[in-house]
Amino acid sequence: MNSWTIRTKLTFWYTSIFGSTLAIFGLLTYLAFSYASNKRIDVGLKEEAEGIAHYPQTSTNSFKEYIKHISNESDEEWALEKYVAILDSAGNLQFRSGNLTDAHLLLQSHQVREIFSGMTYYKTVKNSKGRLLRIITIPMEDKQRLIQIGIVINKDSALNIFLFTLAALGLLAIASSWFGGRFMAKKALTPIDRMIKELQKIETEQLEKRLTFHSAKDEINALSEVINEMLSRLENSFNQTRRFTADASHELRTPIAIMKAGIEVALSKERDLRGYQQVLANTLEDLRRLSKIIENLFILAKADAGRYELHMERMNLCPVVTEIAEQLKLIAEPKNIFVSTEKMEDAFIDGDELLIRMLLLNLVDNAVKYTPLNGTITLSLGKDNGCAKIIITDNGIGISQEDISHIFDRFYRANKARTADHTGGGLGLSICQWIVKSHDGTITVKSEPCKGSAFTVALPTC
Ligand SMILES: Nc1ncnc2c1ncn2[C@@H]1O[C@H](COP(=O)(O)OP(=O)(O)OP(=O)(O)O)[C@@H](O)[C@H]1O
Ligand SMILES: [Mg+2]
Repeated sequence: MNSWTIRTKLTFWYTSIFGSTLAIFGLLTYLAFSYASNKRIDVGLKEEAEGIAHYPQTSTNSFKEYIKHISNESDEEWALEKYVAILDSAGNLQFRSGNLTDAHLLLQSHQVREIFSGMTYYKTVKNSKGRLLRIITIPMEDKQRLIQIGIVINKDSALNIFLFTLAALGLLAIASSWFGGRFMAKKALTPIDRMIKELQKIETEQLEKRLTFHSAKDEINALSEVINEMLSRLENSFNQTRRFTADASHELRTPIAIMKAGIEVALSKERDLRGYQQVLANTLEDLRRLSKIIENLFILAKADAGRYELHMERMNLCPVVTEIAEQLKLIAEPKNIFVSTEKMEDAFIDGDELLIRMLLLNLVDNAVKYTPLNGTITLSLGKDNGCAKIIITDNGIGISQEDISHIFDRFYRANKARTADHTGGGLGLSICQWIVKSHDGTITVKSEPCKGSAFTVALPTC
């Protein structure tokens, strides 16, 4: 059944359910018909028996004559149909009609008692010729004897015709339900066939294509909607990957091209020691930048693939932030930037200390990079609404509203940042965002060009 198509399965189930319902219906109808037929026979038989039982018996002979008359031994046809027996109060045979060659219906003593107490006793038996006899036993009017009347019941004919018709009609109905079911399944599955054909045409190069909707608001339309949403997500992720690859190769190519050009120029003529040292120092600077980009790319690639193993443990943010502030003072010193700390409360979180340090270092690195000489950077750590809040504020170049919505995108650098400093690869904040997300936290920024920026990281405390 696993290799069946949905169409065949639907047809099979439809026909099976229809066929079973029909069979139950046919059986019940047959039983009802058979019961009604037996009931009709029994009612007639009882009337007949009561008529005979109440026959005025002026003498035994006249009664026997009467029995002889009704069993009509001379009339073959009639004689085959009615049998009469008279039993005494113990159930022994007293008299029987001439056509009753077989023994009468034997009764148990308790049955005899029950019949005398008013119960009507019916029984269906087969006689020696194989015919079905329906026999009734009731008391005679004198309550001293019992009378048994039997008739041949031609059960076969009417019921058999009914059974045959029922079976023929049933088979016809099942056959038409099979074809009807196949037709309905085909109609129901047509939109799926169309969907398959449309989906087969969508390739990686044409992910902007979407499934068409049809007029009815049904499950197929709902499925198309879900598939279209999935295609949109796939398209976005494909475009993102493409952009990422293009940007990454561009970012890696630039420092390599600069290094290559620098070395070529250095080799183009003979130079003194200072000239060579200068070229080597420049090359080292570019190599550092290149290595940082590769390192960041590696972290993001691992994060994307879900292969970055987090080592979460309960940790106090206060000593970590204090340590970062000390490191910040060192890197801010050459630019004569004043570093201050505020609040510095104890705040415990469930976190990966290495990643938390990477997050804070990226943020303070930006603050130093984008703050001019003699600026100020403030670090604060507090608790608010079940979260530890770290705020890094600078009075640097700030970020325009237009750039703010993009700064967390990979390789994005605001124009100002490009001109002011060329050392950034534009990956720092993407990594910060991933770290914050993997700690169930948030990172937000408030900034104004030429006034400064404030980055707020909120991480759930434990
Ligand atoms: N404190 C800040 N002040 C002003 N602009 C900022 C600040 N922090 C970030 N930006 C802007 O956001 C951009 C993205 O920052 P991000 O840290 O991702 O990249 P980057 O610092 O240029 O390079 P990287 O961090 O990879 O070395 C920066 O280029 C800059 O334009
Ligand atoms: Mg940065």
